[in-house]
Amino acid sequence: MNKTWWKESVVYQIYPRSFCDSNGDGIGDLKGIQSKLDYLKELGINVIWMSPVYKSPNDDNGYDISDYQDIMTEFGTMADFDELLAAAHERGIRIVMDLVVNHTSDEHPWFIESRSSKENPKRDYYIWREPVDGHEPNNWGSAFSGSAWEWDEKTQMYYLHCFSKKQPDLNWENPKVRDDVFAMMDWWCQKGIDGFRMDVISMISKKEGLPDVPTDGGLYGNCMYGTCNGPHVHEYLQEMNQKVLSKYDLMTVGECAGVTIEEAKKYANAEGTELNMVFQFEHTSLDSGTMDKWCKKPIPLKELKENLSKWETELEGKAWNSLYFCNHDQPRIVSRLGDDSPLSAKCIATVLHMMQGTPYVYQGEELGMTNCPFGSIENYRDLESINAYHELTEAGLRQPEELLECIAYKSRDNARTPMQWNSGKNGGFTEGTPWIMVNPNYKEINAEQELADPDSVFHYYQQLIALRRSSIWSDIIVYGHYELLAPEDPQVFAYTREYEGRKLLVICNLSAEKVSFEIPGSVSWTQADRLIGNYEKQELSIKTELRPWEAEVWSIL
Ligand code: NOJ
Repeated sequence: MNKTWWKESVVYQIYPRSFCDSNGDGIGDLKGIQSKLDYLKELGINVIWMSPVYKSPNDDNGYDISDYQDIMTEFGTMADFDELLAAAHERGIRIVMDLVVNHTSDEHPWFIESRSSKENPKRDYYIWREPVDGHEPNNWGSAFSGSAWEWDEKTQMYYLHCFSKKQPDLNWENPKVRDDVFAMMDWWCQKGIDGFRMDVISMISKKEGLPDVPTDGGLYGNCMYGTCNGPHVHEYLQEMNQKVLSKYDLMTVGECAGVTIEEAKKYANAEGTELNMVFQFEHTSLDSGTMDKWCKKPIPLKELKENLSKWETELEGKAWNSLYFCNHDQPRIVSRLGDDSPLSAKCIATVLHMMQGTPYVYQGEELGMTNCPFGSIENYRDLESINAYHELTEAGLRQPEELLECIAYKSRDNARTPMQWNSGKNGGFTEGTPWIMVNPNYKEINAEQELADPDSVFHYYQQLIALRRSSIWSDIIVYGHYELLAPEDPQVFAYTREYEGRKLLVICNLSAEKVSFEIPGSVSWTQADRLIGNYEKQELSIKTELRPWEAEVWSIL
């Protein structure tokens, strides 16, 4: 297996809008991020992935870009960006940009031109279709509710938008679109950025003929079926790789909705002809219903173990895994798989950070930040949650109270409440009025207190990251062979890692109860040293009693 810096890194994701506000307008900004670089350095991460900071009308908080080569007014200026990049580099921290090129904003000049007339040279930059029998060209629904087609009065045609109607899909079949995107990427690389996280990149090549797709019991066809892993996606990424990525030393990670193991082996192939790694969604969909994500069901632990182990085993040597539980689209893992307690936060972190792959920490995860009690739908800001609430209740498909409970559990806004820096006003996020409510638990959960407490979730993450990045343990934690133990155990997630005759044993009780666990006979040792654990140390014995949420990692010989 080739060794590279991006395999040995730990990435920290920043959602700039909610990270730190330096000017009191209630919205996080680039100067705010810069003021927290020393905090991140102390945590020990060495790569930052920033959610989009480009100019945007903010229909989807920056995932709708109107100028790829300018900075969102609320976040600052290009000079602020350049300063931030330099300040991060000075500290040995690299910056990975979000690349959103499945779609633009409808306010992007390309779309403004495209919709101006059927003859405009940019017309073919987007996906325009004539009506069929007086209605939409197919049954595709947008990921944010409603049809994926919007009627354009002026030119009497529909355009495709897999997300909001302010996010028209680019037509990647047009070589001019690809060239313009590649030129823009090259411009950022010349600036010295360190990589790209590619938004829904698995969706850029649509199915030939745009056919109707199954509805899965919903009101519209699930547009993922018509867009994910399409006929030319690998061709386009190889072209991107040849024309841009291969010229620089970058980290690339594709957000790949609908990716399977077989597809991941192509996207993240070890020969490096496309991307470095992908975000897959199988493990974060285990608590979805058959119809959609809006249900409240616990993550089935045995299936989680099986799923993550499958990715570990099947990509080994062939592609590279990204390791994540949290991001700006996921509810907080400590409220989803844990019980909001610091102990459970540490246990869950151990499961993830001892696996093979590149780990991603989402802002606040390192503090054990939890889901937020939003209460009424008026307190939500995310268009996915708000649109789903109205669409499903108005169609009589769901009862408002029941749906609101599911939204409380799954809404993306759970991840988007302001970072909790201290116990002062607005958790230290802003002097002004925050754009979204602050989680009321900021007085108990915040960075300042955790930095002062050696036993905090922060310091536990710091230790996990330090182990992975240390000269002694890096090889085995980053590259070691993974093997699941006790697959049938309903509460304990245990596995081994092995590298050149050395072995690690990871045991995590993912339950709030005491459980007995017997280490399988395949694992033996004469000497055991504990690397990390979330309780005071006990001897390692074949039959152990694990305490609630107990996690421990042993080096065994
Ligand atoms: C995936 C992003 O992670 C999400 O936040 C966004 O809404 C959609 N793509 C559309 O860009």
